[in-house]
Order: sequence, then structure tokens, then C-alpha cells
Amino acid sequence: MKKIQHIGVLTSGGDAPGMNAGIRAVVRSATDRKLKVTGILRGYWGLIEGDFQPMDSRSVGGIINRGGTILRTVRCPEFREKKNRLQAYKHIKEIGLDALVVIGGNGSSVAANTLHQETRLTVAVVPATIDNDVYGSEDTIGFDSTVNTAVEAIDKIRDTATSHERIFIVEVMGRHNGFIAQEVGLCCGAEAVLVPEIPYNLQTICRALSNGYKRGKVSSIIVMAEGAGDSRKVAETIKRITKLRVRISVLGYIQRGGSPTAHSRLLATKLGNAAIKNILSGYSAHLAGIQKGAIVSVPLTQVAKKTKRIDRFIYKLTHQMAQ
Ligand code: F6P
Repeated sequence: MKKIQHIGVLTSGGDAPGMNAGIRAVVRSATDRKLKVTGILRGYWGLIEGDFQPMDSRSVGGIINRGGTILRTVRCPEFREKKNRLQAYKHIKEIGLDALVVIGGNGSSVAANTLHQETRLTVAVVPATIDNDVYGSEDTIGFDSTVNTAVEAIDKIRDTATSHERIFIVEVMGRHNGFIAQEVGLCCGAEAVLVPEIPYNLQTICRALSNGYKRGKVSSIIVMAEGAGDSRKVAETIKRITKLRVRISVLGYIQRGGSPTAHSRLLATKLGNAAIKNILSGYSAHLAGIQKGAIVSVPLTQVAKKTKRIDRFIYKLTHQMAQ
């Protein structure tokens, strides 16, 4: 096995608060072990284009608290084409990378796995996405920050909802998953949570909302995952059935920005460090994840194939609390 002397690092897919803390951890764990580090700009697109920059411990100074990613990021459908992956690998060989650390989510993990399968390049994934939907890790960098941003926003929405005695449908991100919605829902005391994974019945929800008002509730919040349907249609139906005042608020991209929480920084630092340790211990294609609070290494073949399931207990608990 070739000795690892030079690693590359990139961020890929949707940005997530704490990606910078992850880059910092990867770079400094590598330089601590006397490895050469190259940063790749704009994710997999930078590999295809050969857009590289040398990095050292100083290049990651003052970024642990910054949202976004200093390496920039793109969605890169072009990387699904083999000819582009071969072009990327040509650049990897040219600059002499022995391993690649990918900080990103599901799509980025699949791409890293494919690159490894085709070239045998050592790859490590550090899970970073606000969606928290990466198989093999119970938590991802950015998720906690996003949940906090959304909860803070909904606390404000609750004020106006209460003043006007309104129902608010608040749409949160999460693509095809309800991880964000259900944690946010629980933490802001939502009356209902709608997630793509669990079918919902608007008649039942309306009955619960109307009963709530009869018991003296003055506002209701429904946290709806973006993948759980059309929030406008849901609002119209609720308005028609309950005859109550309904508004929609789509939180949107504010969920991806802002300074990472302490939790996201801690996770990013632990997992970035674990990725380098694992590469140096001989893991050739793995994800550095967290399970039951402990750092684990999960083969990328599993990460690429399997789907992470939401914890239905949180979902049930939210509705149980909404009395
Ligand atoms: O994966 C993170 C995420 O913010 C999802 O929650 C959302 O569906 C998607 O990215 C939006 O993608 P884009 O940044 O390409 O608009």
C-alpha cells in the first residue's frame, strides 16, 4: 500500500453550517501528521477543472465560526459522467494526491464511492448536510445549526400567530426527508408535523386544530417538510375545513446560513479529525460517522446503498405534547 503523504479536501452539495470547521479539522489533523494538503475549489467540479489551492494550518485560521464554505461548493451532475470522472482522476494523478476527503451529504458520498471503485483512490467522507439524511451517521454537520435557526424563526412566527390568532404552516427544508421538520416541530411546540415518510390525514389534523381552539389555544404551528406536499394546498384545505385564519411561511435558505452552533463545530472537528486518522490507518473508502455518540467508520458501499430512517419516536412525542 502506498504511503499517504498528500491529501485533497473538498466540500460538495448544499452548504451546511460547520463545513468550515470541518475543513479546518481535516487540514490541521493532516498538517499535524506532516501531510501535504490541497484544497479543491467548488467540489467535484474543481476536480474536473483542476481548480486547486495549497493549504496549510494558516489557510484555515479564523473560520471555525463562519457559515458557508471557504472552498465553495456546487451541485455537480457532470460528475455522474464517467469521462468527467476520468478527467478528475487525471488531475488527481497530476498533482499526486494519495487520498481525498469529501465533506458533503448523500450525493457526494455516492460520487466518492464511485470514484474509489473506478480508480482505487483512497477516499473518506465527512457527513455534512443540513438534511441529516446520510446513512451510517446519526448526526451530520450543520443539522443542529439549521434546527436552531428554524426554531428561532418559528418562535418569532409564534408571536405573530398568537397576536392574530392564526394557524401557520411553516415549511422547512429537508429534500425527501423529515429529519429537520420533526426535530424543529418538537422544539418549537408545534401542533402538528408533516413529513414525507409518514402519511397524514388533513381531516384528523383539522379536528385536532379545531379542538385545540375550543380548549383555549390561540395559535397553531404546523411544521411541514418541503418533501411532504404542497404547503399552499395544505393551507387551503385547513382553511376550508376549520374556517380558521391560516398563513404560510417558507423559511428557505436562511436555514443553510449563519454561524454554526457549538454542537456543529464539535461534530465537524471530531469527524474531520477521524477521517484523517482513518485514512492513515488504512481505510480506503469509508465515512467517518457518529453512532450512539461514538465515532465510527462505515464502509462507503453501505452509505451509498442504504437509506437512513427517521426516528418515529420524536414524531409521536411531538404530537403527544401538542395538547
Ligand atoms: O440538501 C440540502 C438542501 O438545502 C435541501 O434541504 C434542499 O432541498 C436542497 O438542498 C436545495 O438545493 P439547492 O441548493 O440546489 O437549491
